[in-house]
Amino acid sequence: MAAEGKMASAGRIARSTEEAEPSSVAAAGAPDVRSVPLLFEESAAGRSGADVAARAIGEPDAAAILGTGLCRDDITGFPELSEPQVMRHFLRLSQLNFGQAFQFYPLGSCTMKYNPVLNDEMAALSGFAGLHPMTPAHLAQGALELMARLEAALAEITGMDAVSLHPAAGAQGELTGLLMARAYHHKRGAARHKVIIPDTAHGTNPASCTLAGFEVVVAKSNRRGFLEAAEIRRLLSDEVAALMVTNPNTLGIFEPEIAAIAGALHERGALLYLDGANMNALLGVAKPGHMGADIVQLNLHKTFATPHGGGGPGAGPVAVKKHLEPFLPAPRLGRDAGGWRLDYGWPDSIGRLRAFQGNFGMLVRAYSFILALGGNGLAEASRFAILAANYVRKRLEPHYPSATREPSMHECVLTHDLEKRAGVSTLDIAKRLLDFGIHPPTIYFPLVVHGALMIEPTETETRETLDSFVAAMEKIYDEALSNPEMVRTAPHTLALSRVDEAHAARRPVLRWQPTRA
Ligand SMILES: Cc1ncc(COP(=O)(O)O)c(C=O)c1O
Repeated sequence: MAAEGKMASAGRIARSTEEAEPSSVAAAGAPDVRSVPLLFEESAAGRSGADVAARAIGEPDAAAILGTGLCRDDITGFPELSEPQVMRHFLRLSQLNFGQAFQFYPLGSCTMKYNPVLNDEMAALSGFAGLHPMTPAHLAQGALELMARLEAALAEITGMDAVSLHPAAGAQGELTGLLMARAYHHKRGAARHKVIIPDTAHGTNPASCTLAGFEVVVAKSNRRGFLEAAEIRRLLSDEVAALMVTNPNTLGIFEPEIAAIAGALHERGALLYLDGANMNALLGVAKPGHMGADIVQLNLHKTFATPHGGGGPGAGPVAVKKHLEPFLPAPRLGRDAGGWRLDYGWPDSIGRLRAFQGNFGMLVRAYSFILALGGNGLAEASRFAILAANYVRKRLEPHYPSATREPSMHECVLTHDLEKRAGVSTLDIAKRLLDFGIHPPTIYFPLVVHGALMIEPTETETRETLDSFVAAMEKIYDEALSNPEMVRTAPHTLALSRVDEAHAARRPVLRWQPTRA
């Protein structure tokens, strides 16, 4: 047992099995989020952190430029604070957060891997960061060149022929790909309106299908957790536009019949859409293009180490085979004697998906990541990600068996018997992990696994960190049997314990409401 006071706190993962011991009571001194005053509560009339220079004589005032309708003297109820007050407030709040920069963050299906600072430095170069999106092409040659090189790198990595960097997220990449599939069939005179999706699919897949106007047909994965070509043949008809499948799938296993499935689809004129959000397992190891994919989307913010989560910007480029190239979003990059330009001359294009050319800062980060690692480095990253997932799976097997007997790729999906044995749920386990300074894995996903714990350690964690995680999970298992209440009421060391998640999701309070004017 760890000595008193050796508990892990948010911001620090226990470094050894001995130390992997959370507090048995609420942590003394843990900040109570309710004691952090709101900016509005700290406000004092007339206080200011900004030093706005007085208008120089002869300069027009704002009302003359904008019109009086758009100007006001005051914003009622707006907080008035000094600069240090504002800085302290936000720093204090940031310390209450869990973040990949502070803690082990094995959030399955999200690839929360380390984001090298080098990438941020590259994205912050003034030539990139200061570039206005409306800059004419002849003055933005460096940015366009970077985009062209990134497109080429992604085409090479995926084994596809052409790439669009437009989509701003994986889900938008999915929508892009499906709109292209629709345009492709339309051009061939076929009104196919169904898309097959396996029962292990990520939730965005059926949502994207519906958005693109398709009807979803669910394919059952087999007892081993993967799709069989026979099931796809059974569901195929001339109404099916495509199969949308994630590989590795959301159980974290490779789809071994993918080539036969692609063959079956192509025989019936349907397309294979491969959701490449889990490419972190495949870099330099296997290419969707070789598996028969016609369309692939990538999540740069997962695989290529650009920040993910927290609502930050993402990038979900789409890569296609030659026969789908005419339908890619336009404008596309083109090149002539004058250099790079934006080419609108694609009459069959599905058009724009968003303003400008994608989330450019994310593109710079991804390109920087690819260059820094190189081909061999990318392959090594995937191999380490696979090794880490299988190591954690093997070590946790006695307490938390795997949901599948197939080898894991970059993440493993585990189950447990604590609900039956001790009335302790997966949610309780996840909450208790917070007391060990560990962000919980994804839980209750994929839906086909009861009480799932989906763990994605990524390639960037040390063996010691993985061992500490295993030790914490083992301790929680033992604790669930000896003192289930402790697990059921966790977390005990954080500023906030359990919130009513259903209430928070259904009736979110997103804005402070003043109680007095
Ligand atoms: C398999 C899979 N597909 C699609 C997505 C959607 O990506 P995004 O969150 O960028 O929209 C995710 C998200 O992580 C995913 O795991």
